[in-house]
Amino acid sequence: MEPELTELLIPLHVKYIQSLDTRKDDLEYWLTEHLRVNGIYWGLTALDLMNHIDALPRDKVITYVKSLQCDDGGFGGDKFHDSHMTHTLSAVQVLITLEAIDVIDVEKVVQYIKALQNEDGSFRGDTWGEVDSRFSYIALSCLSLLKRLEAINVEKTVEWILKCKNYDGGFGSAPGSESHAGQIFCCVAALSITNALHHVDSDLLSWWLCERQLKNGGLNGRPQKLEDVCYSWWVLSALSVLNHVDWINKEKLSKFILSAQDPENGGISDRPGDMVDVFHTLFGVTGLSLLGYPGLKQVNPVYCMPQYVIDRLNLDQ
Ligand code: FPP
Ligand code: ZN
Repeated sequence: MEPELTELLIPLHVKYIQSLDTRKDDLEYWLTEHLRVNGIYWGLTALDLMNHIDALPRDKVITYVKSLQCDDGGFGGDKFHDSHMTHTLSAVQVLITLEAIDVIDVEKVVQYIKALQNEDGSFRGDTWGEVDSRFSYIALSCLSLLKRLEAINVEKTVEWILKCKNYDGGFGSAPGSESHAGQIFCCVAALSITNALHHVDSDLLSWWLCERQLKNGGLNGRPQKLEDVCYSWWVLSALSVLNHVDWINKEKLSKFILSAQDPENGGISDRPGDMVDVFHTLFGVTGLSLLGYPGLKQVNPVYCMPQYVIDRLNLDQ
């Protein structure tokens, strides 16, 4: 039987994240090429929360991220890739964390996001035109971090997000789509950025969110789905914004996250026994941070960045 994992194996996770850039022989490295800048955000944020931000080479990271800005102002996932909203947010988050936002053309980022807003207030993810509430969150998060919220129609943005609200108190990816914890994070955080949380039925939604906890302590993203470490973030961040983290069994969730660690090579997986990846490693760590796990920095539940970085920005919200 596997020994019970009762502690966060910080030195191993640091090594695992550091090793990601040197695994160019792995097929997985190339398969995830389109996610390179997201990977840097996930890795850097996890390291920072574990008090090891210096484990990645700051200058190299900045030069690389800067090189991803496309002519339209957005960022691609890797060199020579087209820009997309998700990559643009990751780039901005990394550069702000490293206090290096001035190395890029910020005005072009603002124009890129502004140009992706539709007449009805929703946002496209890129030039292909997919609309999703996650892009509304990304637009608001990015522009708020850059202190340029006035560049878009905030009122219409909120109006459209509210159309994604369902009778169960949750939010979906578009009007009429079923509630999903990932989208609930996006919409609740978006409403927090725009001071519009009064539109959320806090008790009803918190009830739906805490019902995501299964017998084994893990959280799922929708009814009838399997538990998954990343939902420790999507669910708990929303509960944190609504001040209801205490509605779930914290000890059981903490145990579930810790049990999904790889005790040999580091990293956290979606559930015990599966292959680790840097996405689930970040959301395991952010989940533990929201649970008050000792020795971790506090994470901001709206921006998914260390709280000290958000404090340093002095955002007036
Ligand atoms: C689940 O996705 C997650 C979501 C729908 C939310 C995604 C949010 C963003 C990309 C915004 C940026 C996020 C942060 C933290 C800054 P999934 O496709 O894995 O869902 P599934 O579990 O149903 O497959
Ligand atoms: Zn997951």
